[in-house]
Amino acid sequence: MKIVILGAGYVGLTTSACLAELGHQVTCCDIDAGRVAALNRAETPIYEPGLGDLIKAQMQAGRLAFACDAKQAVGTANAVFLAVGTPSSEDGDIDLSYVEAAATEIAPYLPEGAVLVVKSTVVAGTAQRLKRLVDTRRGRDDIAVASNPEFLREGSAIEDFLHADRIIIGVDDAQSEALLRTLYRPLTRAGVPLLATRTVNAELIKYAANAMLALKIGFINDVADLCEALGGDVKAVADGIGRDHRIGTAFLAAGPGFGGSCFPKDTRAFASTGRRYGRPQPLIEALIEGNEARKGALAQRIIHAAPRHGRVAILGTSFKANTDDVREAAALTIVPRLIEAGLEVHAHDPQPGAAKRLLAAAHWHDTALAATRDADVAVILTEWDEYRTLDLTQLARAMRGRLLLDFRNIVVAQEAARAGLDYQGLGLPAAPSAQIRRGQGAAGSLRVAAS
Ligand code: UDX
Repeated sequence: MKIVILGAGYVGLTTSACLAELGHQVTCCDIDAGRVAALNRAETPIYEPGLGDLIKAQMQAGRLAFACDAKQAVGTANAVFLAVGTPSSEDGDIDLSYVEAAATEIAPYLPEGAVLVVKSTVVAGTAQRLKRLVDTRRGRDDIAVASNPEFLREGSAIEDFLHADRIIIGVDDAQSEALLRTLYRPLTRAGVPLLATRTVNAELIKYAANAMLALKIGFINDVADLCEALGGDVKAVADGIGRDHRIGTAFLAAGPGFGGSCFPKDTRAFASTGRRYGRPQPLIEALIEGNEARKGALAQRIIHAAPRHGRVAILGTSFKANTDDVREAAALTIVPRLIEAGLEVHAHDPQPGAAKRLLAAAHWHDTALAATRDADVAVILTEWDEYRTLDLTQLARAMRGRLLLDFRNIVVAQEAARAGLDYQGLGLPAAPSAQIRRGQGAAGSLRVAAS
């Protein structure tokens, strides 16, 4: 099948490379000429494991090409996917101007019978609205508009595409349903379920799925706070409730609040849609507020734990591991607040990406160990594997203080204690650090605790 994808961002590139992998002929278009030129040199502009290699392989196989001129590219397409940005406006609403502009621009050039597929995350009703827009622009009703939301996680986008839990296609007519079923046949044959429903439902599914997942995270974070007050262990509680298959163990890791390009934006859009249609979503409104407050509260916790004008090492600025994406990352709230409070921040991230520019007031280091040198407090903010396997004895030696705040609960408390660190996770009982340190005389045992 001949497919054109409009937008060479994260979703557009992953979709392009994966659809080419399924055997389709894909042209990915973007108005950014520099980006297209780089892609044509097989340079991938984003960090996503495996994506660069897949793009290169598909280009070599002759199934994937990049272009600026969308009008020309769509002329022979069976389907055109809209994967352009849908930024958030102040009130949480979604700015549909890029989606609408792209649809309007290409509408006259679409061949009769083509299907326009909305991949960008859009509020419910957008596909139907685009259908009216395209019909008006063409002066006839010969193009179907479908919705096909993505459920890709950064860091595992290719895996999520090729081994999806389900494919959702929103279709208001038989033509687009047949086309999208054919398009995804290689995946459905391999056992991936495909659910066909109306466009409005597909659009709602995307938002409701992200809202539900974000609710799980918000809930377990609240439980973690309660565990701290009661001396409980949030990992044990999460395991215990997650074993009920109706709840499930996924997305129950307590942390510094969810970030990224989807959950914060999509929950805001969901809440805003509820307000607009007179059906407020109080659970989601509270979730958004609680998630923001959490980042501020954790900043305060660090400030209280550190000595005045002390030095804090921040390990991890990406919103989660395996990505260089810093959008709505906890670090963006926490680091500036520490600096405002007079603390000196030394930061490290294996993929600092835009973080170095956005957090330019921090001192940046190439290794985690260098960032912790002479630190009074070290804080883990992102669950990178390399922080799970930190040499804690070296870390304790490098630091001036002893406090390790693990806001991802990835370090084994006993090991930290054995290395002479005062370990605090989120919602975990206090580590038996004192006894272990006294018994073993480990590095750092003569140091004065920072808290
Ligand atoms: C998410 C959805 O998972 C994906 O389906 C959708 O298409 C886009 O949004 P992504 O933003 O890449 O994907 O990251 P995800 O792995 O879902 O994590 C989102 C945030 O929640 C991160 O900040 C992460 O650290 C946090 N999180 C996740 C937790 O704090 N605890 C968890 O148990 C899981």
